[in-house]
Amino acid sequence: MPVTQIPKTYRVKSFGCQMNVYDGDRMAELLAEQGISPAPEGEDADLVVLNTCHIREKAAEKVYSDIGRLRREDGSSPLIAVAGCVAQAEGEEIMARAPSVKMVVGPQAYHRLPEMLREASAGKRVTDTDMPAETKFGALPRRRRSGPTAFLTVQEGCDKFCTYCVVPYTRGAEVSRPHGDLIDEAKRLVESGAREITLLGQNVNAWTGENAKGQTIGLDGLIRELAGIPELARIRYTTSHPNDMTDGLIAAHGEIAKLMPFLHLPVQAGNDRVLKAMNRSHTVDSYLRILEQVRTMRPDIALSGDFIVGFPGETDAEFEDTLKLVDAVGYAQCFSFKYSPRPGTPAATMEDQIAASVMDERLQRLQAALNRDQLAFNTASVGKTCDVLVERKGKHPGQWLGKSPWLQSVHFTGEVQAGDLVRVELLEAGPNSISARLLETVTA
Ligand code: SAH
Ligand code: SF4
Ligand code: F3S
Repeated sequence: MPVTQIPKTYRVKSFGCQMNVYDGDRMAELLAEQGISPAPEGEDADLVVLNTCHIREKAAEKVYSDIGRLRREDGSSPLIAVAGCVAQAEGEEIMARAPSVKMVVGPQAYHRLPEMLREASAGKRVTDTDMPAETKFGALPRRRRSGPTAFLTVQEGCDKFCTYCVVPYTRGAEVSRPHGDLIDEAKRLVESGAREITLLGQNVNAWTGENAKGQTIGLDGLIRELAGIPELARIRYTTSHPNDMTDGLIAAHGEIAKLMPFLHLPVQAGNDRVLKAMNRSHTVDSYLRILEQVRTMRPDIALSGDFIVGFPGETDAEFEDTLKLVDAVGYAQCFSFKYSPRPGTPAATMEDQIAASVMDERLQRLQAALNRDQLAFNTASVGKTCDVLVERKGKHPGQWLGKSPWLQSVHFTGEVQAGDLVRVELLEAGPNSISARLLETVTA
């Protein structure tokens, strides 16, 4: 059925990484600027944007089943736009297979959404998966309000080409957003309520820019400047790559109080042969040395990482090396995945793909070790006094939720508001959260 008018309500559903969440929020603002309202909870939307992720298996299948589920009882469908990394990788196939999809928009083309929407509303089907030289960010609208915590994408894309990964293909080359734009956006976020900003990038620590004095600076320089915004209480960054961990950034962890003691530094595997086959261009030792330096600067730092089990050719002994690395580091939390062959990546056609049952067993063993360490990290926090940034109400009456400096979820009861920075005593630790007693409000 051809659509003949501009939709009145929209819903954006984002999957995948935090950068996709950031992009999804920006698209929502762009649609709101066109006079389209968010669909009320539980009600159908006239326009649905599926902001997809392609990182692991069944990404495309999931998109097709999501599209199917949007079909209404009377057989009609909302206006569907497929955005994000699956749109970039498989846009043409989606257009061919799913007639209800009217727009396919790649991650670097969001700023064209309003124009595409006009065309789609006139009955056309439109695809834009270009990666224009000028970035989309400049064209996106200004943000109006923010919760206590906000994301700010500072860098996008990846030039590293790990042999298993689609990101360099779906997001394009590494691009740093200009320094001035970031300072402006950070200030606006803070004015509109943000007290914590998480700087985002596929390789966030590869960010580089020119400051107001014309000097070239890295992520540490940017963090230092942001720390000068008085009402901004906390700064975090993710995801960083071991090869872009500069001395300056390591030192920043000991020097900038607003930079939270948390580092997410993916390693993927604990064996040098596997790392080489992955094209990670760091070794187990060079990775451990970085962690040691960061710990020297900031002894209480909470460490996090990403792991892949069952990369093609990974032997039992090589997998054991991953467990040894985990034991050596003592992570506060981690993400771990079964290797998933991605179309178009070198690893997908490597010999010795690992059997699913072997991957299952390895993942179980790895996750048991990681869960053990996560609980140990949380348990070691009990008795400590720390600040918590209050984010939202909990399930129980009077209960509030927030994060510790080490990114642990903390819950407590008391008279506070979202956005308050409060001091608490950590009382009892579980694997995923810690209960606490409110001591005082630091800044309301
Ligand atoms: N740029 C970041 C990570 C981006 S993707 C980095 O290099 O650290 C997030 C995580 O997904 C990766 O760290 C990796 O652990 C996982 N991942 C990426 N491709 C994968 C694949 N083909 N199969 C399984 N896990 C994958
Ligand atoms: Fe993917 Fe590797 Fe780039 Fe991370 S560094 S986004 S894992 S290619
Ligand atoms: Fe997924 Fe694309 Fe992010 S593949 S993890 S949404 S960069």
